Amino acid sequence: MPQSDLEQHSLALQKIIKDKIEKTGSISFAQFMHMALYQPGFGYYSSGNHKFGKEGDFVTAPELGDLFAKSMASQFSQVIHTIQSPIILELGAGTGQFACDCLLELENLNNLPEKYYILEVSADLQQRQVQKIKSLPKKLSQLVEWISQPLTQQFNGVVFANEVVDALPVEVFRYHDNEFQQMRVTWNDSFKKTWGEFPENLLKQIKDKNLQLIEGYTSEFIPHLDSWLNSITQNLNQGVVIFVDYGYERNAYYHPQRSDGTLICFYQHQANFDYFSNVGIQDMTAFVDFTALAEAADSCGLEVDGFTTQAHFLMSLGIQNHLGDSQNDYKSYYQNTTEMKKLTMPNETGEKFKVMAFSKNYADELVGFSISNQLHLL
Ligand SMILES: C[S@@+](CC[C@H](N)C(=O)[O-])C[C@H]1O[C@@H](n2cnc3c(N)ncnc32)[C@H](O)[C@@H]1O
Repeated sequence: MPQSDLEQHSLALQKIIKDKIEKTGSISFAQFMHMALYQPGFGYYSSGNHKFGKEGDFVTAPELGDLFAKSMASQFSQVIHTIQSPIILELGAGTGQFACDCLLELENLNNLPEKYYILEVSADLQQRQVQKIKSLPKKLSQLVEWISQPLTQQFNGVVFANEVVDALPVEVFRYHDNEFQQMRVTWNDSFKKTWGEFPENLLKQIKDKNLQLIEGYTSEFIPHLDSWLNSITQNLNQGVVIFVDYGYERNAYYHPQRSDGTLICFYQHQANFDYFSNVGIQDMTAFVDFTALAEAADSCGLEVDGFTTQAHFLMSLGIQNHLGDSQNDYKSYYQNTTEMKKLTMPNETGEKFKVMAFSKNYADELVGFSISNQLHLL
C-alpha cells in the first residue's frame, strides 16, 4: 500500500476504536490489541498490507527459505508414521509458505498426512495462502483445507504453530502499592493509557503466577490461554502439539530487569514501543511466557514433552542435512548455509526462539529434543 493509503487506513481503524471507547468507556489493552491486529478488514493481520518479507515489517523462519519447514517435516514424519489416520493442523499459516514446503518434504519422506488443515483468523492471509497452495502439485494442494474454527471432530496427528502465540492479544498490568492494576485505553484527542482494577477472573490469573515484583513493574500476560489451547486441542485423540516462538520460561520472563515487559511493535523492519502509533499498520507482539503455556497444556490434559531452543530442535532434526551439494551447486549451498545460521546462531534467532511440545496418548520421545530438553527450567 502507498504511504498515504496506509495513513488513511490507520485513521479509519483509529476511528472505529475511538467510537467503541466513546460508546462503552475505556477498553482493556487486550481489547485494543485485538482490534489493532484483527478488526475485520482493518486490523493489521486482517487487511491487505504486506506484513511478511523484505517489503513488509518482519521476516519469519518459513520465509527465509525451506530449511525450517524441511526440518519440522522430519519431526511431523516421526509422529505421522506411527499413528492411525494422521492429519496436520497448522494455526496461523502466514503466507502459506510453511505449509507448501512442509508438504513437499513430507511427500519426499513418503509420509503425507490424510489432511492438512489451516486454522487462520485473517481473511486476507487465508486468500494469500490459497494462492500459494495452488502452486503445489494437485496431489498435495488437495490435502489442504481451511477452517475458521477449531476441529469439532476427533483427530489424530500434529498441531503446529510458528509465531502465533506471540500474536495473541495480551493484558498489560502494573504492580503498584502491592496491587495489580490493569492497563486501559481511553481517547482524548489520541489514545491514552489509564490504570484501573482488573476484573476478578483476570486478577486471579495474574495472582496465580506468584510473582515477586518491584514497585512499578509493568508486564503482560495472555488472558484465558488455557481456554484458547483447550479449544484447539480438546478433540486431539492421539498426537503432538508443537509451538515455536520467541519467549522465556517464567523466571526469565518476569525478571526484575525486564521491568517494562516485552511488548514491542514492528513497522517496516523497525522496532518501536509506541503501540498507540501506526494503529493497524504495524505489528504488535509480546514474548511468550512458556511456563504459562506449559501450565495451560497441563490444564488441558496434555503431557508437556519438551522445551528447548530452536537451534537445538532444528539441529536434532538434522537441519544440516538439507544444505545441499557444495561441489555442484555452490550458490544454493551458500544460501542454505546462511539460512541455517539465521535459524541456529545464538545471536540470530537460534536461542531467542524456543520450541515447546505437548502430547496426548503418544509415548515416543520426539526426535527434536534429542540434543537437549530443558523442561527443568519451567
Ligand atoms: C506472526 S504471523 C506468523 C505466520 C506464520 N506462522 C509464519 O511463521 O510465517 C501470526 C499468524 O497467526 C495468525 N493468528 C493470530 N491469532 C490466531 C488464532 N487465534 N488462531 C489462528 N491463527 C491466528 C495470524 O493471522 C497470522 O497468520
